[in-house]
Amino acid sequence: MNSFPHPIVIAILTSILTSGGSCHKSCSGNASLMKSIQYQLKLVEDNDGKCDCNHSPSSQSFGKVGFQVFNSKNLQNISNGAVVVYDTVTTNLGGGYDKSTGVFTAPVVGLYYFTWTVLAYVGKSFYTQLKLNDVVVAKNHAGAGGISAHMPSSQSAVLQMKKNDKASIRIHRGGVFMIGDKWSTFSGYKI
Ligand SMILES: *[C@@H]1O[C@H](CO)[C@@H](O)[C@H](O)[C@H]1NC(C)=O
Ligand SMILES: *[C@@H]1O[C@H](CO)[C@@H](O)[C@H](O)[C@H]1NC(C)=O
Repeated sequence: MNSFPHPIVIAILTSILTSGGSCHKSCSGNASLMKSIQYQLKLVEDNDGKCDCNHSPSSQSFGKVGFQVFNSKNLQNISNGAVVVYDTVTTNLGGGYDKSTGVFTAPVVGLYYFTWTVLAYVGKSFYTQLKLNDVVVAKNHAGAGGISAHMPSSQSAVLQMKKNDKASIRIHRGGVFMIGDKWSTFSGYKI
């Protein structure tokens, strides 16, 4: 018997090796296709399925909602129930915050996080509340009455909002003296 492999055996081996190679090639091709599809699905999910055509996908603001504001001046003797208007915008992705009214309007439905800090002037108070539309959802007791130092107080809330729901900081009682500049801030973002 000839000890060399028969030409037909060589042909079969070659065929298996070749198809093995091409299977490997198509497997990895399909794997990277799947990766690409998964990545694109994730982009769509991150943006709630909406296309923001004014921004390139590389833009930081793509699909994001978030704001950070403060009041350039001290606020004194503000009446109960009045909106605390923060007149200076640091961040306002999604355009939800209106610095003329002090009201944040949800541009899209979702779960939102808010936090605000008030620094009350020595001996004075500045109690505030967070309202979701007309409902008080959190209160912040910044009181320095009888204290010989400024007193800060912070509060936060996680709120489920529909599109166009409104969030605002209001005077709860005794809006006597809030120190402005960046000591007292209001911020929020869509989770
Ligand atoms: C890769 O995808 C093609 C086209 O859908 C398919 O014919 C082939 O069987 C797939 N290969 C593997 C290894 O899944
Ligand atoms: C706020 O009210 C107090 C007490 O009535 C008064 O002394 C102070 O001048 C007022 N401040 C402003 C800015 O109106």
